[in-house]
Amino acid sequence: MNVAIIVAVDRDHGIGKDNDLMWHLPDDMKFFKETTKGHIVVMGRKNWDSIPPRFRPFSDRENVVLTRNTDFRAEGAIVYHSLQECLLAYEKEEDRTVFIIGGGEIYKQALDSGLVNEMYITRIDATFDADTFFPEFDENEWSVEVIGDHEIDDRHPHAFTFYRYTRPQCYCA
Ligand SMILES: NC(=O)c1ccc[n+]([C@@H]2O[C@H](COP(=O)([O-])OP(=O)(O)OC[C@H]3O[C@@H](n4cnc5c(N)ncnc54)[C@H](OP(=O)(O)O)[C@@H]3O)[C@@H](O)[C@H]2O)c1
Repeated sequence: MNVAIIVAVDRDHGIGKDNDLMWHLPDDMKFFKETTKGHIVVMGRKNWDSIPPRFRPFSDRENVVLTRNTDFRAEGAIVYHSLQECLLAYEKEEDRTVFIIGGGEIYKQALDSGLVNEMYITRIDATFDADTFFPEFDENEWSVEVIGDHEIDDRHPHAFTFYRYTRPQCYCA
C-alpha cells in the first residue's frame, strides 16, 4: 500500500479558512486532479462538506470520507469511521495509491500514523489569514525534490511551486 498526502499550503502552512480554500489557482487544481486520477482519495467529513455538491464525489477516483458519525452518508463515497479502519481496508492495495486529501485533522492523523511515504506539497508564495493548518513535520526525515513551478499570470494571482517528498514507510521517530 502506497499512502500519499496531497496539499497546498501558504507561507504559514495555512490550508483553509471558514471550511473553505483561500485561493483560486486552476493549475494547482489541475495538478491535484491529474495526480489523484484513478486512485483513492481519503478526506475528512468537513473537507467533503466544503466541496460544492456538483464537484463531488471527485470523478474517476474512489472517494472515501472519514466521520465518527455512524449515521452519516456521502453519496458516491465510501464512509469509514476511523483512519485505521480505512487504511486496513486498503492494506493489500497494490495498483492504486491512497491519497490523503485533507483537511487539517486528517493530515495530522495520517502523518502521525507513520504510514505516509510520499507527499505532494504545493507551496503558494503568499500569506492568507488561515484558521486551519498543515501539521509541522521534520524535513530531515524526508527526501525532497521540486517537480514544477508556476509564475503569476492572468488566472493565477500568486506564484507556487510543486514539491514531492518521500520517505520509507513506517518511519518511527
Ligand atoms: N489547502 C488544501 O490543500 C486543503 C485540502 C483539504 C482541505 N482543506 C481545508 O481544510 C479545512 C478542513 O479541515 P478540518 O481540519 O477543519 O477538517 P477535516 O480534517 O476535513 O475533517 C474533520 C472531520 O473528520 C472526521 N474525523 C476526523 N478524524 C477522524 C477519525 N479518526 N475517524 C473518523 N472520522 C474522523 C470528523 O468528522 P465528524 O465531525 O463528522 O465526526 C471531523 O470533524 C477546510 O478549510 C478546507 O478547505 C485544504
